[in-house]
Amino acid sequence: MKQQNIRERWSSRTGFILVAAGAAAGLGNIWKFPYIVGENGGGAFVLVYLACILVVGLPIFMAELALGRLGARNVVDSFASIAAESGHSSRWTMIGWIGLLAVLIILSFYGVVGGWAFAYLATALQSLGSISEETTAPVEFAKAFNELAGDPVRSVVWQTAFMALTAAIVGSGVRAGIERLSRFLVPALFLLLGVMVICAAVTTGKFEAGFDFLFAPDFAQLDAEALLVALGHAFFTLGVGVGAMLTFGSYLPNGIGLVRASIFVVGLDTAMALLAGMAIFPIVFASGLEADAGPGLVFITMPIAFSGLPGGDILAVVFFAVLSFAALTSSPSLLEPIVAFVREKARVNRRSAAILAAALVWGLGLVQALSFSIWSDVAVFGKNLFELSTFTAISLLLPTGGILVALFAGWLVPARRMKDASGTQNLRLYWLWRICLRYVAPAGVAIVMLGGLFV
Ligand code: PHE
Repeated sequence: MKQQNIRERWSSRTGFILVAAGAAAGLGNIWKFPYIVGENGGGAFVLVYLACILVVGLPIFMAELALGRLGARNVVDSFASIAAESGHSSRWTMIGWIGLLAVLIILSFYGVVGGWAFAYLATALQSLGSISEETTAPVEFAKAFNELAGDPVRSVVWQTAFMALTAAIVGSGVRAGIERLSRFLVPALFLLLGVMVICAAVTTGKFEAGFDFLFAPDFAQLDAEALLVALGHAFFTLGVGVGAMLTFGSYLPNGIGLVRASIFVVGLDTAMALLAGMAIFPIVFASGLEADAGPGLVFITMPIAFSGLPGGDILAVVFFAVLSFAALTSSPSLLEPIVAFVREKARVNRRSAAILAAALVWGLGLVQALSFSIWSDVAVFGKNLFELSTFTAISLLLPTGGILVALFAGWLVPARRMKDASGTQNLRLYWLWRICLRYVAPAGVAIVMLGGLFV
C-alpha cells in the first residue's frame, strides 16, 4: 500500500492537457477520420460523429479520468477498489480486463500503421527535391504501398522501430518520458497541421470543395452501419473505453478540475480531426482523385496527390511528419495501462515492465503485420487478421468498455464521490454529466450497437 505514496504525477494542468491531447489526437484523427468520412459520404457523417463526441464521448472521457483519480491504481485494481469501497461486486474488475485486452489489440495494429508512417516519412525525406514524372504514376504509389505492407521484413522492421521507441518513452517515466515528449510534439503537431491547411487553402484552389465535403450534410448517405462507425470512432479518437484515460487520470495531481480540462482536450482532438480533413480533402480533390479510398487514403491517394502539386515534396514531408508524430504521442497511452498493471502486480521496475509489455504487443503485432503478406490468405468471418483485430477492438471492445464505464460511474459510484473527483462546483453541469452517464450514453451505445450488428 505504501506504493500509492510514491505514485508519479503529471507536473501541471498544462502538462496533463498536452499529454491527454497527444493521446487522443493520433492515427485516428489523421489516418482514420478522413477515410471514414470519405467512405460514409461527408458532412452528415461528421455531424453524427460530433453528436457522439458530445453526448457519449465527452461524458465518458470525464468519467474515466474521475475513476482514475478515485482508484489511483492500475485499471484492474482501480475498478476493484472503487467497487469494494462502494459495496459492489468484484466482478466489475472485468471492465479493467476488457480494457487491457483492448489496448493490447489496438497497440498491436497501431504499431504496424505507425511503422508505415515512419517508413513513408523516411521515403519522403529521401525524395525531397526529386519527385519526378515517372514516380507520379498512380500505380507506382499503389505499388509502393503494397510493396511496403506486403514485404514481411520491411514492415516488421518499421513496426519494431515504432514499438521500440514507444517502449523507450514509456520506460522513461510518466513525467520524464510521456509528458516531456507531449510537451514538445503536441504543439509541433498542431503547428505542422496548421501549415498544411494553409498550403491546402492557398495552393490547391479546391479548399471550398474540401470544406463542403466535410461540412455540407447529405443525410441520404447515412445508414445504421455508418452510425456504428461514427460511434466506435468517437471512442477510439478520444481514447476512452479501454482504461487509457483512467490510467492517466490516476496520475492527476490534486486541484486540477476535470470539467474544463476534459472539454479542452476533447475540443483539441476534434479540431485536429477537422483540420486533418481540411488539409487532406482539398489536396485529394485538386488532383482529381476521390476521397473514398478507405485505409489507403493517406498512404496511396495522398502521395499521388502530392506528386501533382507544386512543392508537393515538401508537403509530403510535413504530412508524414504529422502522421508519425500523431502516432507517437498516442502509442504511449496504449502501452501505459499494461505497464502500470505489470508494474503494480509483478512489482518490477518501470523500465522492465515497459520492455515486457512492448514485447508482448510486438509479438501480437507480428500477426497484424504479416496479415498483409505471408498470412494474407487467412480469413476469419470474411475478414483478414488485421481487419478482424480492428473490428473486434474498435467496434466491439471499445463501445462495450465505454458502456460499462458509463454504467459503473453513473449508477454504482456514489454521486458525491464522482462530484468530488471531478472537482466541479457547478451543479447544473454536474447533473448534465450524470444524466449522460446514466441514460443517454448507455442507451445511445446500446441502440447503435444493436442496429449496427443487425445490418
Ligand atoms: N485516440 C488515439 C487515436 O486517435 C488512439 C487511442 C485509442 C489512444 C485508445 C488511446 C486509447 O489515434
